[in-house]
Amino acid sequence: MTAIIVFASPGQEELARDLAARLPASLGRLEIRSFPDGESYVRIDSPVDGCDAVIACGLDRPNSKIVPLLLLASALKEAGARRVVLAAPYLAYMRQDRAFRSGEAVSARILAHLLSSYFDGVVTVDPHLHRIHNLNELFAVGALAVAAAPALAEWILKNVGTPALVGPDSESEQWVSDVAGRVNCPYVVLDKIRRGDRDVEVSLPSSESLRGRTPVLIDDIVSTARTMIAATRHILHLGLPAPVCVGVHAIFSGDAFEELTGAGAGRIVTCNTVRHSSNAIDIRPLMAAAIADMLAS
Ligand code: R5P
Repeated sequence: MTAIIVFASPGQEELARDLAARLPASLGRLEIRSFPDGESYVRIDSPVDGCDAVIACGLDRPNSKIVPLLLLASALKEAGARRVVLAAPYLAYMRQDRAFRSGEAVSARILAHLLSSYFDGVVTVDPHLHRIHNLNELFAVGALAVAAAPALAEWILKNVGTPALVGPDSESEQWVSDVAGRVNCPYVVLDKIRRGDRDVEVSLPSSESLRGRTPVLIDDIVSTARTMIAATRHILHLGLPAPVCVGVHAIFSGDAFEELTGAGAGRIVTCNTVRHSSNAIDIRPLMAAAIADMLAS
């Protein structure tokens, strides 16, 4: 069997340790630092010849992470790693999957092309796939998307009595319907109009299925939290109880978390794909299993 070694991108040591313990795999040593001019220096300090190497690197706040990540992947290949796999619980840049206005860069395609040039495989959790239905339409190498739905459903079943799920927009229906099926509860999807990064309006066609139940808002990414805030306000405006807000990826830019709390959200929980105080749903066992599957093939 090929040995597996997990390397941590800067700041991702805890994720790397966790994945290594679950695979199981050993932890690789490396040196990564910045030169005084801000450029990155990478040196691998563990033998990797003939091994499968996994780089743990969540790609939230991605810009400063990408160059060291590519240097590390390249150095592992140079040092003889058989395959180099990226374990990115959050995959950035997926929302811009087409040019909405002429001249726009389609970042989903560009990032997938870049990563496909340096990695033999990519494992992530619920990438924001809307107009593109499968990661393999984007990536030229094997790409696995772990679904958070089973873990979200398990958390809701344990923590919310009599839930009704609410998806804030049509894009969320794919997750919300899946989780609702597992929890065996009703769900509704709001109509959402986004006029700008921080300007979101939602409306609910009918609130009947929510009456007498605890609303649970579910979304994949909580970034500015404007979507969750608009949905929370709308639910409260309808005279329903404060919603439990469940997000997969806790991006929470700026004061988004505090603003969501201030808007009247009940409990706010997220998966541990992006480190945040709201992390309550452990997605790493599913991720480690997906990495093991990919490396077994
Ligand atoms: C959009 O299509 C996504 O599914 C999320 O609803 C969106 O990314 C949330 O962004 P924000 O928190 O900035 O409203």
